[in-house]
This record gives sequence, C-alpha cells and structure tokens, in this order.
Amino acid sequence: MEVVCMTVVRKAQMTLEKDFRIGDIDPRLYGTFVEHLGRSIYGGIYEPGHPTADEQGFRGDVISLVRELKTPVIRYPGGNFVSGYNWEDGIGPKAERPRRLDLAWRTIEPNEVGVDEFADWARKVGSEVMMAVNLGTRGPDEARNLVEYCNHPSGSYFSDLRIKNGHPQPHGIKLWCLGNEMDGPWQIGAKTAYEYARAAQETAKVMKWVDPTIELVACGSSHKSMPTFADWEAMVLELTYEHIDYLSLHTYFGNRDNDTPNFLARSLEMDEFINSVIAICDYVKAKKRSKKTIHLSFDEWNVWYHSNEQDKQVEPWTVAPPLLEDVYNMEDALLVGSMLISLIRRSDRVKIACLAQLVNVIAPIMTKTGGPAWRQTTFFPFLHASVFGRGTALLPIIKSDKYDTKDFSDVPYLDAAAVYNEEQEELTIFAVNRNLEGGLEFTGDLRGFEDYGVVEHIVLTHDDLKAVNTADNPDNVVPTTGGSAEAVSGQLSALLPKQSWNVIRLKKGYSR
Ligand code: AHR
Repeated sequence: MEVVCMTVVRKAQMTLEKDFRIGDIDPRLYGTFVEHLGRSIYGGIYEPGHPTADEQGFRGDVISLVRELKTPVIRYPGGNFVSGYNWEDGIGPKAERPRRLDLAWRTIEPNEVGVDEFADWARKVGSEVMMAVNLGTRGPDEARNLVEYCNHPSGSYFSDLRIKNGHPQPHGIKLWCLGNEMDGPWQIGAKTAYEYARAAQETAKVMKWVDPTIELVACGSSHKSMPTFADWEAMVLELTYEHIDYLSLHTYFGNRDNDTPNFLARSLEMDEFINSVIAICDYVKAKKRSKKTIHLSFDEWNVWYHSNEQDKQVEPWTVAPPLLEDVYNMEDALLVGSMLISLIRRSDRVKIACLAQLVNVIAPIMTKTGGPAWRQTTFFPFLHASVFGRGTALLPIIKSDKYDTKDFSDVPYLDAAAVYNEEQEELTIFAVNRNLEGGLEFTGDLRGFEDYGVVEHIVLTHDDLKAVNTADNPDNVVPTTGGSAEAVSGQLSALLPKQSWNVIRLKKGYSR
C-alpha cells in the first residue's frame, strides 16, 4: 500500500518596530541550576578520577560545555535538597565532612562539594552563584551566618573561618533565595503561607543587615496548580514586600499522553502564569501604596517527565544514583524554545530565570561517569537564546494561522520573540514553527531595520519528533545554518521548516 505524506503549509506574519520595546533583557534570564541531586554534582560537574578532571576534581569536559552556554548565574544547592541542608557540613577538610541522609531525594550526601568548592567551580565556568538558604529545617540564624561566611571580608567568626578554609577573598554572592518551594507538602519543613512569610521576613531582614548589597528572592508557588496559588503569593508579598526584590515561579511540563500539538502549546500556560503573578505583585504594590516594583525570578523551568517511572526503581540511600535523567527529544527542544520565547517576551518583569537543571539532572548536558559528556537536544535553544538574546526585547505583532488542542484554543503556529542589540547593531528573531504537517511561510515587516541583512538562519529540526542525542550518537539532533531567511529593504521572508526552532540573525549593513 502506498503511504501518502500530507504536507500542509501554514502562514504567519510579524510586524516589528524598532521603537516598540518591551524592555531591556537582564542577562540573568539565562540562568541555570545545580542541585545536590542524582549525578548533578558527583559524576556531573565533579569527578576526581575522570581523565579531564582538574586539580580540584572538576570535569574539564563539563566546564567547557557549561562555558559554551554563557549562563551568567547558577542556582545552588537546591531545590528540595536545600530544605534539609546544613551548609557547615560542606566546609573545611574533606576527610572530616559528615555523610548525611538527604531526605529530599533519599540518597547519601558525602559533602565532598560544598559552598567553597561550588563558588570556585562557578568562577571557572564564568558564572555567578545564586545561593539558596534552608528555611525548611533551619532559619534566620544559619542564613545570616552563611551570608557572613560568603560575603563578609574578614574579622568575624564566619569570615575568618572562610579564610582559614583557603578563601581569603569573599565569594561576593549577590543573589539569594529564601528557601525553596515552601508551599509543597513534599518539602522538608513545608509551611503555610503565613508561617513562610514570617520566616522569610525575619530571615531577609538579618541577611540584609549582614550585607545590604544582596538581592533576595522569596518563594512563590511551586506551580500554578497548587491549591494555595495566588493566596500564597499575596500573603508572602504582604509581609515581605519591603525586604525582598523578586518573587519566584516554577514550572515543568511533560508530554505524558503523547499529544504533541497540545504539549507544544504549554508555553501559553507559562504566559498566563507569569501574567497572573505580575498582577498579584502589582495588586500588593497598589495596596501598600509602594513605589517599589517586585520583579519575577522564574528560577525553575523545563520539561520533566521522561525519568519519572525509572526513578521509582532507584535504590535508596546510595551516593549519586542516576535520578531525573530525562533524555530529551526533538519535541522537548521545541517546547524549551517556546518557553524561552515566553521569558523574553515578559523580560520587562521576569529578570531572572533558571533552566532546571544544568548537568545530568533534567539537564541540557549529560555525562557518563568515567566517560564522555554531550549536548542534549534542549542544549541548543538555550545556547542560542543565551548567546544571541542579549539586548532589548521588542514587541512583535504576530498574525498567524492557528490550531486548537485538548487544553488550548487559538494556538498560533508561529511562536516568536525579537531581541535588538543596539550596541552590536544586530537583530535576532527566535521562532518556533509548531506546525507538525509542514512548513510555515513566515514574513516580517521590520520597521526601522530597512538596512539590515540576514547574517544566518539557524534551524534545529528532525523528521522524528522523538529523536534524541546519546553518548553513542551525540550529533543526531543538531542545528544547521541552512535556513532560507532573506531580508530586502526591511521585508523578511523565510520558510520555517516543519516542527523547527529557528534563529534568524540580522545585522546592519550586512549583505551576502
Ligand atoms: O528540579 C528538581 C526539583 O523540582 C527541585 O529540587 C524542586 O525545587 C522542584 O520540585
């Protein structure tokens, strides 16, 4: 029997105007996350016996891949892990550090890596640390001591202890999270909104008394469908408003029922979540007659579901078992691309975001313990956004063919964001073609960019939406620069391939 492949080309049009600006993108929008979880630290960033390991035991191959991503900030040490963590366990001579039960992930934590080592590693990869404090089993006292240990120059108990431990210079950590997902019953020391708000308020106060230059992120809801969502945010802001700088959001998506058109539309849910949290922040601002605006820290976001079943089989109480090792496919890369587009489009209020996570644990970078490191499919949209998405986000006006799914109606086939880098005289358009049946005829009216030409049109696509990269086949899903985009006198045209992530880079005065 003859198999007939149906191709249905869709259409989309975008208008961009140089002066219609959403806002300046904070580079910290391209943050990531390293938790003491699974093989993220041990066998991920740190593996003393590995052929590429440096004098501190950090894997050189992983350092190179992380540097490639240019992630300006990395959240640490959790996640759920932080809510049972004693940071003092991870300092001083390694031989004297305790092995502890980690109740969050039911593993053994050897504490070979702690705050000093992580700060050293972050410097090696060219990133800042975003440090979380434990508000599960601990409180203001341990948090203020940690700020003193990390940031106070010298002449006090904890700053001198850091110096004794081989770090004469302060780590200078500017960004701090007041706990993690404290609304979740799975969290060690979970709290009601009022209990958390009071703990965060008092902790914030003393942390800033130790170092007034730090910035603080309070916990918002763990996800939008938490029963306490919205009331939680309102209560937390009510009590902490004058002490904090950012409110957190977390979101993970999965394609459990293998409904890809619906899965690819999930970024619309992310948009709605962001808009709702902004509304709550501004409601509290109005109520308080405050001049201060609270910005958002979307400090956990990703696709996470592939590893859920296999994680149930993992033997408890071992060191660094393989946990949350999602192997990402082509369609995951498309949704990650759309989630990045959502973040860029609300970069007026989302100032920090962390792809969760960075190595081995729901991560763009995978390693084999004792073996190679490689890039997952999701590495590429993150890389492109982080490298080319710096500057000012412009407001794209999009008219696109649309589709309906189980959970969404009027889903545009074209998802897009535009970033103007005035200094470099470059314009970058990020675009996802959600059409699984064919290409997308894409035209753009680029007002104010009449003298810009297309430098390159990067495309990430694969015929098989389930295609993955592995240690044995690391280049199965990789981007090419073979896209068709052209720009003549400010009129852009391209055929975006079926199910593709696209980066169209334009530069002033450029012609091929
Ligand atoms: O990133 C994995 C986990 O997801 C984090 O530890 C937790 O904060 C969230 O639930």
